[in-house]
Amino acid sequence: MGFSFLAMSIAAASLAPWVPSRKKDVLRALQLASPKKGDVIYDLGCGTGTVVLLAAKLYPIKAIGIEMAFPLYLICKIRSLFYNKKAGAIKFINKNLFKSDLSDADIVYVFGMPSVLSKRLRPKLETELKPGTKIVSYVFPIEGWDPEDVDWLKDRNPIYLYIKK
Ligand SMILES: C[S@@+](CC[C@H](N)C(=O)[O-])C[C@H]1O[C@@H](n2cnc3c(N)ncnc32)[C@H](O)[C@@H]1O
Repeated sequence: MGFSFLAMSIAAASLAPWVPSRKKDVLRALQLASPKKGDVIYDLGCGTGTVVLLAAKLYPIKAIGIEMAFPLYLICKIRSLFYNKKAGAIKFINKNLFKSDLSDADIVYVFGMPSVLSKRLRPKLETELKPGTKIVSYVFPIEGWDPEDVDWLKDRNPIYLYIKK
């Protein structure tokens, strides 16, 4: 009973299981988003923090990772100890992304399951993000939105760019 309740709670809160974005594709995603100085970028479900660490290393921005799974969050924190503080700012938060305030985002990066993207995340982003916020979705489109741009590369995963109206 206790276990099935726990499993159901995790499933209900889940964006996707942990599968990391490929580093080469993160570079493509960042180019697509073209962050400007001072931008705030979120990785929703940041796994082991690769997107956050790379984004802040390459751009003068603030990169924030939200991760629900504590062991993955711990890895992010350990990796951040080795991060060069002279580059952009980084922050990791151990929290359910669906209970997190994203209203200060300029860019949102997400790698989630298609049904969760369209049914749960899209309504949250529609009500919470400010107009002009860029949403970058790795591999899967967000149904119900028209992409502003799509990075298609042969034999690689597609990356979708949306702009909040
Ligand atoms: C497909 S992985 C993507 C990891 C990372 N963003 C990347 O691209 O390399 C999805 C991540 O989201 C996390 N996650 C799932 N549901 C979540 C939620 N509700 N709140 C925060 N993190 C969540 C998982 O633990 C997992 O690390």
